[in-house]
Amino acid sequence: GLKKKEVNVLCLGLDNSGKTTIINQLKPPNTQAQEIVPTIGFNIEKFKSSSLSFTVFDMSGQSRYRNLWEHYYKESHAIIFVIDSSDKLRMVVAKEELDTLLNHEDIRSKRIPVLFFANKIDLQDAMSSVKVSQMLCLENIKDKPWHICASNAIKGEGLQEGLDWLQDHLK
Ligand code: GTP
Ligand code: MG
Repeated sequence: GLKKKEVNVLCLGLDNSGKTTIINQLKPPNTQAQEIVPTIGFNIEKFKSSSLSFTVFDMSGQSRYRNLWEHYYKESHAIIFVIDSSDKLRMVVAKEELDTLLNHEDIRSKRIPVLFFANKIDLQDAMSSVKVSQMLCLENIKDKPWHICASNAIKGEGLQEGLDWLQDHLK
């Protein structure tokens, strides 16, 4: 059959935002982990969609590991950036990390798609994806296609919409 196009996706965002939970949901059911633990360093996960073969670098968001992120910028074809929509206190920290990412020399010049998940929308005090988008000033991103999806990674809601968008921009 036809060989699927191979793409490297970097999954970034603060610790506890839900990166590993999201990636786990995107894997085939028989390979999903039952229990999610905070990521140490990073994990590499592979799964396929209808047209693509994904290799996802699921990075730890803990501050002590964030210096690892930049080592994978060069080889990435797309970025998934996850935000805990209920974590108002750390929204500025998320914005700082996003700005640092977008200004990095290995990312700045690349027109790679950036998919945002405004995750944990099931929580009582979660902000809307529009509000998250405003707080992160996403409309200032002019040189890359980007998209934001509201998600509930525990139930898997909103994830397919995001993956479909990413697929369309990786063809
Ligand atoms: P690090 O690996 O430390 O960077 O964290 P992470 O971004 O990978 O977060 P992880 O997937 O480990 O999830 C952190 C916690 O949030 C876990 O207890 C998850 O069950 C929970 N969680 C993830 N997504 C959601 C969501 O959409 N809603 C709710 N209520 N909880 C979520
Ligand atoms: Mg993790």
